[in-house]
Amino acid sequence: MRNNDLELGKASSKSCVHLAQLMLPEHANPLGNVHGGVIMKLTDEAGSLAAMRHAGRHAVTVFVESMTFDEPVQVGSLLHVNAQVSWVGRTSLEVLVRVDAENPLTGHVVETNSAFFVYVALDHQGRPTLVPRLICETTKEKQLMADGEKRKKVRLGIRPANN
Ligand SMILES: CC(C)(COP(=O)(O)OP(=O)(O)OC[C@H]1O[C@@H](n2cnc3c(N)ncnc32)[C@H](O)[C@@H]1OP(=O)(O)O)[C@@H](O)C(=O)NCCC(=O)NCCS
Repeated sequence: MRNNDLELGKASSKSCVHLAQLMLPEHANPLGNVHGGVIMKLTDEAGSLAAMRHAGRHAVTVFVESMTFDEPVQVGSLLHVNAQVSWVGRTSLEVLVRVDAENPLTGHVVETNSAFFVYVALDHQGRPTLVPRLICETTKEKQLMADGEKRKKVRLGIRPANN
């Protein structure tokens, strides 16, 4: 990590990740659709890469929001996995990962699922270490960051101050 990233922060757009992978018969479950675990592995890979890009450090998964699969993914689909840092704390980062399945013959794209992942950046001794603040450039990014504070409190079971 460059030292001035910690002071100046880093834009969400600088760490976005897009993975694309063709779903083959080896990715199928016994019903012939893509196995959910294959998709979960790809989402965690994309999420951790976005976290590492932002932090400039190795990052480990500490929390995965529940994941709903809205549509079955067919073998032969091109899976697009997009990851974007949505919120940062001191040493932890939240990444929003979205999965789309494209039929490469027709170009038809279906959103199959999305989820928030939380990673912790580690120093060379494997201890949590500070991450650059997040520079939000768009209204959507600003909203994600603001809502991220609320999601963190829910995750960690922190009650609002007035209750
Ligand atoms: C991640 C890990 C290093 C954190 O260690 P820790 O002693 O809990 O560290 P801290 O208490 O200092 O917390 C570090 C950050 O993680 C966050 N955190 C810890 N547990 C969390 C949880 N369940 N959900 C969300 N955030 C969590 C804290 O809020 C803190 O964030 P902040 O610095 O931005 O405020 C440790 O739990 C670990 O090694 N876990 C295993 C990770 C792993 O191997 N993952 C691979 C998949 S098995």
